[in-house]
Amino acid sequence: MNVLIIGSGGREHSLAWAIAASPLLGELFCAPGNGGTATLASNVALDASDHKAIVEFCHDRSIDLVVVGPEAPLVAGLADDLMAAGIKVFGPSKAAAQLEGSKAFTKTLCRDNDIPTAAYAHVSSAGEAKAYVAQCGAPIVVKADGLAAGKGVFVAQTVDEANNAIDICFSGEFGEAGAEVVIEDCLVGEEASYFALTDGKSILPLATAQDHKRIFDGDEGPNTGGMGAHSPAPVMTDAMCTRVMDEIIRPTVDAMAHAGTPYVGVLYAGLMIADEGPQLIEYNVRFGDPECQVLMMRLRSDLLPALVATADGQLANFDLRWRDDKALTVVLATQGYPGDYEKGSVIRRLDEAGSDGNVEIFHAGTKLQDGRTLACGGRVLNVTARGKTVGEARTRAYEAIKQIDWPEGYWRTDIGWRAIEREESPS
Ligand code: AMP
Ligand code: GLY
Repeated sequence: MNVLIIGSGGREHSLAWAIAASPLLGELFCAPGNGGTATLASNVALDASDHKAIVEFCHDRSIDLVVVGPEAPLVAGLADDLMAAGIKVFGPSKAAAQLEGSKAFTKTLCRDNDIPTAAYAHVSSAGEAKAYVAQCGAPIVVKADGLAAGKGVFVAQTVDEANNAIDICFSGEFGEAGAEVVIEDCLVGEEASYFALTDGKSILPLATAQDHKRIFDGDEGPNTGGMGAHSPAPVMTDAMCTRVMDEIIRPTVDAMAHAGTPYVGVLYAGLMIADEGPQLIEYNVRFGDPECQVLMMRLRSDLLPALVATADGQLANFDLRWRDDKALTVVLATQGYPGDYEKGSVIRRLDEAGSDGNVEIFHAGTKLQDGRTLACGGRVLNVTARGKTVGEARTRAYEAIKQIDWPEGYWRTDIGWRAIEREESPS
């Protein structure tokens, strides 16, 4: 099979790594890819928003499956355009991608199907929004309805902060994405992520993970795309996973099918595990980044047939095997991220750092130039390790990082701290 992966992050490198190991694979392409995918696949300079060019490339290169990494092309209807051209695609249609593309869409689906989530209001003017905040008080969460590259969510501790967030959303800063706003109760508990494949009818649970969104140790400072992750999430016991499936995932998949917009792809539920049980914070219509990297490190089975079975509606009776090991990934970012940062610094000694059989270094914002690896993004590398415990995986990851020569890099030193605390003093 010839496969094209769309995207350029650590998620896409880890997907390429898993797919490259499949005996079913013919040629692998990644568009646009990065310095890491370049070692496993042919990187091609295709623009994800140019659906026509992608369809032409697929016809020219006899692509049998397109795997779409990020959400934006899915929300823009890339899967629909590929399917219309007779090309198999892993990823939901535009209508089904509304689960991530519109917070109000998902809140309505939750309300109509009794899916546990925070109480909310959907508003389309600043006046309406502020009146609702005045009525509820703080803390409260303000969210731009549409895609805002992870910047459209404000967890406001005071009414003033909430009003400020409302002004930002309606100022046009997020374009159309901020023209409507969801305001919801602030949930309390422990966050975790749950991933499942679905072909629109059958659901195959994958695994759980937790990420660290804040830039600094101790989960302090501004939000980022994610500075590290580990899998599984200790808070996601078997009993909790069963509840998530029964109360959240299954009703969602059934409701989407019932509406005539079946959801096909990987469904990523962002959850708050509260005293009363799991609550849905949000859906994502793709693998998480960097959560995908830890999932791929733990997957024992061939990923490619699972993606094909999902796209083909053949997930019933399909199964995947996982390693008992835990996995952890540390993101190395360019100093300055998530603010401004320099591009073009040289990263050395990556081969030495990645020589442990339990360590994989997935690239994100890198490119290869004249045999050198250059940093060209905010999040640059994901040093990912397996271990019998999260603690062992963490030790391996940080040992590997010590060998990397990249003075311009920054990383957190406490990835996995909550899980490791639990391992060290189980309650
Ligand atoms: P989202 O982009 O929806 O994942 O939101 C980003 C982050 O904001 C989440 O990972 C949570 O940490 C936080 N968040 C979002 N909604 C809520 C909520 N209702 N209560 C508490 N925290 C929230
Ligand atoms: N790491 C969070 C996300 O992929 O949305």
